[in-house]
Amino acid sequence: MARTKIFVPRETAAISVGADDVAIAIARHAKATGNGIQLVRNGSWGATWLEPLVEVEVDGKRIAYGNVEAADISDLFASGLLEGGEHDKRLGPIDEIPYLISQDRWTFWRCGLVEPLSIDDFCAHQGFNALEQAFESGPDAVIDAVKESGLRGRGGAGFPAGIKWQTVADAPGEQKYVTVNADEGDSGTFSDRILMEGDPLGLIEGMLLAGFAVGASRGYVYLRSEYPLTRSIMTRAIELARETGWLGDDIQGSGFDFDVELHIGAGSYVCGEETAMLESLEGKAGIVRYKPPLPAIEGLFGKPTVVNNVVTIASVPNVINLGANRYASYGVNRSKGTLAFQLAGNIKRGGLVEKAFGVTVRELINDWGGGTASGRPVKAAQVGGPLGAYLTAEQLDTPLDYEAFTEIDAMIGHGGIVVFDDTANMAHQARFAMEFCAIESCGKCTPCRIGSTRGVEVIDRMIADENRNDNYDLLVELCNTMEGASLCAMGGMTPYPVRSVLKYFAEDFASAQGVDQ
Ligand SMILES: Cc1cc2nc3c(=O)[nH]c(=O)nc-3n(C[C@H](O)[C@H](O)[C@H](O)COP(=O)(O)O)c2cc1C
Ligand code: SF4
Repeated sequence: MARTKIFVPRETAAISVGADDVAIAIARHAKATGNGIQLVRNGSWGATWLEPLVEVEVDGKRIAYGNVEAADISDLFASGLLEGGEHDKRLGPIDEIPYLISQDRWTFWRCGLVEPLSIDDFCAHQGFNALEQAFESGPDAVIDAVKESGLRGRGGAGFPAGIKWQTVADAPGEQKYVTVNADEGDSGTFSDRILMEGDPLGLIEGMLLAGFAVGASRGYVYLRSEYPLTRSIMTRAIELARETGWLGDDIQGSGFDFDVELHIGAGSYVCGEETAMLESLEGKAGIVRYKPPLPAIEGLFGKPTVVNNVVTIASVPNVINLGANRYASYGVNRSKGTLAFQLAGNIKRGGLVEKAFGVTVRELINDWGGGTASGRPVKAAQVGGPLGAYLTAEQLDTPLDYEAFTEIDAMIGHGGIVVFDDTANMAHQARFAMEFCAIESCGKCTPCRIGSTRGVEVIDRMIADENRNDNYDLLVELCNTMEGASLCAMGGMTPYPVRSVLKYFAEDFASAQGVDQ
C-alpha cells in the first residue's frame, strides 16, 4: 500500500519554530498508530509566518496545515490528517494559498515543492534542462540569453549579469572562476538561504551555466558562517551532483569540466563586498581591494572571475527555460524579471514574496505582509539592508524599480524590507547606521573607518541636544565626505539611511533622549 507523503520543512526558519520536533512527533505517532507514512523534509515555500507548514499529499493534492506544533500532532491525526481532514490549523490546498499564488514564483518555484536533496525530484522538475539546452546551443547563446533577459545582479548593485559574463568570457586566460556570493549579511534578508536550503541543485545548475558560458572550470560558493544548516545541505547537494556526473570531469559526456567548492565565511559584513570576498576566499583578511582591476578581469587569484549573488545565478536556468524575451517581459523599465522581496521587522506576515519589479513597497507590506505585527501605523521601512534609506509612509508607493529608487536617494539592494511602526525613534536608527559602519568597516580608508565613529559621536550630541543645529550641519558635511571619498559602498552608502532620517524624521532627535534603543 502506498504510504502517505507528509512534508515538513527542513529549513532554518521553520526549524527555529519547531519543525524538527513536529517531524519527530509525526513519525512517532504514525508508527504508534500503525500508519505507513513517507516523511519528506522539503524546503520552505517562504511563507515564514505559517511555519512550521506541514503538507499531506492526498489524491495528488497537497493539503497544508500552518503553525503546527508537536503538541498538535495527536489531535491532527485524530482529525484525519492523513486524509487532509478538517482542523483549526488546516489551510487548504497549498496551491490555493493566496500569499503564494499571488506571487510570480520563477526563481523560487521549486522551493517548498521538491525534496531538495533528491536528484530525481530535481530532474522531474526541469532540473538540468537548461544546462542540456546550453550544451546544444553553446556558450555564446547562454551569454546572449542572459543579456537579452535584462537580468541584473540581485546582490545589491544591480549590474547587468550578461555584461559581466561577457567581460569574463572575453578576458584572456586559461583559468577562470565562478564565485557565488552567499554572504547575505543585509538586515532582514534571507532569500539566498531559502533558495540554498530549498533548491540547492538549482544554484548548482546556475553555476554550471555560468562556468560553461564564460569558460570556467571551477566555482566557489562563499557562504556565511551563520548558516550551518545551509552548509550541510549545500555540502550534500555538491556531493550528490558529483556522484551523478553533474559535477566533475566531462559532465554527462559533454566534454565540459566543472566542480564546485563551498567556502565558509568569517562572519564579517564587509566580506560580502565582492573584492573583500575574493580576499577572504584566497585565505586573507576580508579587506576591500582597489578597483580597477575589476574582478571580471583580475579576480580570484588574479584570474578572470564572475562574482554573482545566489539569486542572480539561480535565476539563470529559468531565463533559459522560459526564454529571455519572456523573462524580460516581466518587470518595469530597466528592472526586468522578478525579485524575491523579504518582509521582516514589525510585520504581521513575514516571509519571502517573489514578485515582478514594479510592485510597490506598500503593496508588499499591506497585501502580503498584512501590515505591522503591532497593528500600529507604519512609520518607516528600510529597504535594501543597513545601507538603504528609511522610506517614509508616503514613499511606500514608490514602485520597486532600481531607477525609481535612485531618484528618491534609496536603493532596492537585495530586496530586504524592514518595517517600523510609529513607536520607532528614527534618530536611534540613524545612530545605528553609523555604529554598524563603525563596527563592520574593514578599516582600509579613512572616511569610513574614522568618519563612522565620528558620526556616532555627532549623533549622540544631537540626541543630547548639545548644539543640535551646528551638529546637524556637521553631520551633513560628514555624510558628504563619506559618500564622496570612501573606497567602497560600505562607507559610501552609510550616509543614505542617515540622510533620510535627517531629511524626513529630524524631529525624532528632539524626542530620542531616554527612548529605549
Ligand atoms: C559592504 C557590502 C556588503 C555586501 N554584501 C553582499 C552580500 O552579502 N551578498 C551579495 O550578493 N552582495 C553583497 N554586496 C554586493 C557585492 O559587492 C557585489 O556587488 C555582488 O556580489 C555582485 O553580484 P550581483 O551582480 O549578482 O549582485 C555587498 C557590497 C558591499 C559594499
Ligand atoms: S569604505 Fe569602509 S569598508 Fe569600504 S574600503 Fe573603506 S574602510 Fe573598508
